[in-house]
Amino acid sequence: MKIIRAASYQDMSRKAANILSAQVIMKPNCVLGLATGSTPIGTYKQLIEWYEKGDLDFAEVSTVNLDEYRGLSKDDEQSYWHFMHVNLFDHINIDPARVHLPDGTNPDPAAACADYDAVIHDLGGIDLQLLGIGSDGHIAFNEPGAAFELGTHCANLTEDTIEANKRFFARKEDVPRQAYTMGIKTIMQARKILMVANGPKKAAIIKQAFFGPVMPEVPASILQMHPDFTLIGDAEALALI
Ligand code: PGA
Repeated sequence: MKIIRAASYQDMSRKAANILSAQVIMKPNCVLGLATGSTPIGTYKQLIEWYEKGDLDFAEVSTVNLDEYRGLSKDDEQSYWHFMHVNLFDHINIDPARVHLPDGTNPDPAAACADYDAVIHDLGGIDLQLLGIGSDGHIAFNEPGAAFELGTHCANLTEDTIEANKRFFARKEDVPRQAYTMGIKTIMQARKILMVANGPKKAAIIKQAFFGPVMPEVPASILQMHPDFTLIGDAEALALI
């Protein structure tokens, strides 16, 4: 595990974008695993800036996102499909055919999740997976207690996560209660993993996840076992370690 200390959110974003850029430059047809949430928005902004300068080419890159809400279509403004297009894909030369998220509109969870695992498999696996962390230790929608051996599956959101995500919806009741998400096994199979974390709300969980025992109650703790895991945090998120 490698920990990179960043001075600020902007510095964290720039450092993360550097690692993603290096991946794209070294392997132009790489598979990037991408994440939603507030934390990676600055990273995506930085990538867009470098793309606009002509320093990055995404033409051959494939992407697989961690998760999608069950029941939301691509057109839904709260869908992760929409988030990724607004925050990254609409601004770079990514081939739409190479963009992948679980199909939130597939009413059959087993089929939706098996299809997504097949997509990742057929792409040859994930070269670099970007992750955020929830203040309860979740990664993607793998909530505390999620089995480490799960591939893509349908997860029930915890009350904490519904509470945290309601800021993106008009009403709390509108937050979907389920999501199709990569499992811990899927995430751990990525060749490289990069986590970004900022702000004081993440400080306690960063200490617990990466300096405490590895256990399903703290899903992110499994990343201690990954052979190529990098955490980039700002001063506030790393304040307790
Ligand atoms: P955040 O979410 O980036 O909005 O803090 C992180 C997460 O829940 O994975």
